[in-house]
Amino acid sequence: MSRVTTASFPADRPLAVLVTGGAGFIGSSLCRQLSARPATRVVVLDDFSTGTRENLDGVDVTVVEGSVLDRELLGGLVAEADAVVHLAAIASVQDSLDRPREVHDVNVTGTVNVLEAARAGGGVHTVVASSSSVYGSSDALPKHEGMRPRTESPYGATKLAAETYALTWQRSYGLPVLAFRFFNVFGPRQHGGTAYPAVVPAFLERAVAGQPVIVYGTGEQSRDFTYVESVGAIIADAVVRGVTSDEPVDLGFGVRVSLLELLAVMEEVLGHPLDVTFEPARTGDILHSQAAGERLAQLFPGIEDLPLREGLRSTVDWMRSR
Ligand SMILES: NC(=O)c1ccc[n+]([C@@H]2O[C@H](COP(=O)([O-])OP(=O)(O)OC[C@H]3O[C@@H](n4cnc5c(N)ncnc54)[C@H](O)[C@@H]3O)[C@@H](O)[C@H]2O)c1
Repeated sequence: MSRVTTASFPADRPLAVLVTGGAGFIGSSLCRQLSARPATRVVVLDDFSTGTRENLDGVDVTVVEGSVLDRELLGGLVAEADAVVHLAAIASVQDSLDRPREVHDVNVTGTVNVLEAARAGGGVHTVVASSSSVYGSSDALPKHEGMRPRTESPYGATKLAAETYALTWQRSYGLPVLAFRFFNVFGPRQHGGTAYPAVVPAFLERAVAGQPVIVYGTGEQSRDFTYVESVGAIIADAVVRGVTSDEPVDLGFGVRVSLLELLAVMEEVLGHPLDVTFEPARTGDILHSQAAGERLAQLFPGIEDLPLREGLRSTVDWMRSR
């Protein structure tokens, strides 16, 4: 049985929130939501390795350029915060295969640095980003937090280590923490132009450019796609209410969509058929992923995900506006 607490904070309490990795895809969306809240001051710490200043255009935040590996800088910023949302990481499976030590340093040592800064700051509420990749490709569906993790990449191992450290800091030192395992987040400001892009921007960028969409494998592999603003809404609510849990929480809504179904919805949204090319499956690709989402629903009963079609429409609008 997991232990969950919600501090009895008033919903409109003034808040100072530090978002590490706040210039990235998920971070910049969260910063938009947090900074729109009354009496909320948002500080971003980002080294701009993948994040951009453009992602935060028009958002009322203070941006500090630096790394979570700079303990002095981090300590000073955390000491002034009521809550930390720790998203900074090298969030690429391929980078972790190519440069496992560096990814360990940023993702694991960086997390320990954040936790230690939060402890030194008198017990600052800390939300940590983990990943559904901790489950690996076991056939059992849906995934749930009671399953034994089985990581299949150094990236997955760093995320499991990061969440384990966070939960251990709660059990050992009483630090108020919440560790979310994100499931396939998509939406505006996610870029496909990398060597191993996430599937939604990979498909959409080619489709919008009139190029054939490449599917690796049969297309029957499936994902629990989560719209980025739903992720931001849940994190913001967790921060405002001071939600903690001594077990990880899957952040996925339990809707499983195959890549072939995803392409069909994309065709509807774009208003034309897509030219699709099939290539052999890539080794290491996880076949199916879906969250049970029960713990999430218990902790955040009022928050639902945007339907896939609407999330894709907003993403396409953003891509076309660039
Ligand atoms: N996008 C997803 O579907 C997904 C799924 C599971 C988990 N996550 C986790 O969510 C978090 C955010 O991911 P994202 O998709 O927004 O990726 P992202 O690459 O857009 O964001 C990561 C941010 O961290 C910054 N960063 C990297 N190293 C840093 C360092 N040493 N110091 C300070 N900043 C640093 C980057 O510049 C970037 O702005 C990551 O922890 C990732 O592992 C994402």
